[in-house]
Order: sequence, then structure tokens, then C-alpha cells
Amino acid sequence: MKHFLNTQDWTRAELDAVLAQAAAFKREKLGDQLKGRSIALVFFNPSLRTRTSFELGAFQLGGHAVVLQPGKDAWPIEFKPGTVMDGEAEEHIAEVARVLSRYVDLIAVRAFPKFQDWSVDREDSVLKSFAKYSTVPVINLETITHPCQELAHALALQEHFGTRDLRGKKYVLTWTYHPKPLNTAVANSALTIATRLGADVTLLCPTPEYALDQRYLGWAKDNVAESGGSFRISHDVEEAYRGAHVVYAKSWGAIPYFGRWEQEKPIRDAHKHFIVDEAKMALTDNGVFSHCLPLRRNVKATDAVMDSPACIAIEEAENRLHVQKAVMAALVGR
Ligand code: CP
Repeated sequence: MKHFLNTQDWTRAELDAVLAQAAAFKREKLGDQLKGRSIALVFFNPSLRTRTSFELGAFQLGGHAVVLQPGKDAWPIEFKPGTVMDGEAEEHIAEVARVLSRYVDLIAVRAFPKFQDWSVDREDSVLKSFAKYSTVPVINLETITHPCQELAHALALQEHFGTRDLRGKKYVLTWTYHPKPLNTAVANSALTIATRLGADVTLLCPTPEYALDQRYLGWAKDNVAESGGSFRISHDVEEAYRGAHVVYAKSWGAIPYFGRWEQEKPIRDAHKHFIVDEAKMALTDNGVFSHCLPLRRNVKATDAVMDSPACIAIEEAENRLHVQKAVMAALVGR
């Protein structure tokens, strides 16, 4: 049984097949690949795009989606093995995943990090626990990576450039300011897929503390060795943007400051100028801009950038629907 927890676990041929199927779903919306099948969408965190696109995607392929929010409309869940459950949780993941597996054909999970201790968060224990106890395929709806977003991003870039790969394309993943420390998931994922597609990737961030976890930097290095791209980290905004073909923006908290965010705040506040604006985009080689959304306008990127023809964020958001249908179809073997 195959899960979709990270794109890195899937071969390039498997990802290419999913992207090709997604492009086909974009041309022909309806299908019967999930006829008589169902998916449980388990959300521990809010969502607009992920929830809507999965529910509609299942419907458009003849399937049915059940949304569960543990602690809100479903029982709070315990994840620690061997624990005495005398706290808030009413049931254990060992039962939750196995019971859901008797009802549905796929289980999908959104569980953000707690942002207190990265050594704990990096274990991705909620997602891994679902995968451990589930007897049906599990899909990552964003935990410490966001593989569905990766595929939507990849499809949008393939459509824009008209190529399967990004070889010879200068790709800038830029940190942007946000008043709160956000998840590193989309940044980890952007780095993973851009290096997988062979781009020349620059990770632009304010200081070395904002470089991502070694696991994802390692994936990036492994990927470029195979794909023929390149990877480097820069703290020089102008140099990073100059000649770029793709600018992908995301804000994230600096890992060394997890749980000590009051100490990170002054550093973050000193880098509001990382906002993506027209002046920076003018340095690019007719570059495209994208973001996973949601995005705070005039904080992460200006109105002018968001409303420019170079912005493909809406296309990428639409592609969530198509790629997720392709992932669901692949996982049920249709
Ligand atoms: N990009 C993304 O996952 O959006 P939502 O948080 O709205 O699902």
C-alpha cells in the first residue's frame, strides 16, 4: 500500500504520471475514478483551498468526502503510545485510524507543527501515526511539508514554461515578512519540488537562522545531483532576484527560535523589506510570481505584484483541485 506523505517518497516517473493525469483532469473535469469510494479529510487546522478542492475533487470523480475536525466535531485524539489517557483526548489514534479504514478508502490529514519544539515537530508524529495504523492510503494535507501544494505549483510552472522540467530556470524561494512565525512546510516543499524539477534554486532568507531544516536542505542537494539543477542559500535580495525566472514567496519562523518567538520577533520585524514588490520583480528575467495562499497583501507581496500578469498564484490554487484528483485516483489504483 502506498501513501502520499511526501513527494520525495515517490519516483519521478510516478510524479510525472500524476501531473499528466492532473493536466487531463484540468481539460476534462468529471470522471468515475472514485465511484463508490470515499475519503476522510481530517483537519486539525483551518483551510480554505485544501478542504474545498478535496471535497469537490472527490465529488467530481464520483466519490464522497467526509470532513472531520478532531476536538471540534470529532473526539480529541491521543497520539502517544502507551499513555494513560486521563487528559482531554477521548480516543487513541490506534482506534481512530483503524476504524476510519473500515469506512473509507483514503484518509487525508492536516496537522501543523505546534511551533514550540522543532525536534518534536520534525518527527511529524500525527501524520506518521495515521500512516502506521491506517490500512488504507494516507495523504498529507500539510504537516511539516505540503506535497499537494508542490504538485499544484509544479503543474502551474509546467504550464507557464511549456516544459516538463525547470532546467536552466533561476528559481528564487524567498522568505517574506509576516507578523507571526508560520509553518516551514511550504518552504520545505517548494525547495523539494523545484530541485526535483532541475531548477537553479536560490533560497533567499534574512539570516542563516532562517535556512530550513537539514533534512530538506539534504533533499535539495540530493535532488540537484540527480536532476542537474543547482542549489544555494543567499541573504542578498538584489542578487537573488536578478535574472530570476520564478519567484516563490513564503514566510516561516526561524527554527532555532521555536518556542522562543519573542526573541525571533525583532529579527523578523527588521526584514519587512523582503516584501515582494514591483522593484524586486523588475530585477527578474520576466519572472513569474507565486505563493501558496493565503497571503496578506502589502505585507508579503504588494497589490501591484498580486494583480500583475506575472502572478500565477490563482492558477496554482486551481491546480490543487486537479493534482489532488490525480493523487486520489492513483492511490485507489484507477
Ligand atoms: N494553500 C493552502 O493549503 O491553502 P489552505 O490553507 O486554505 O488549505
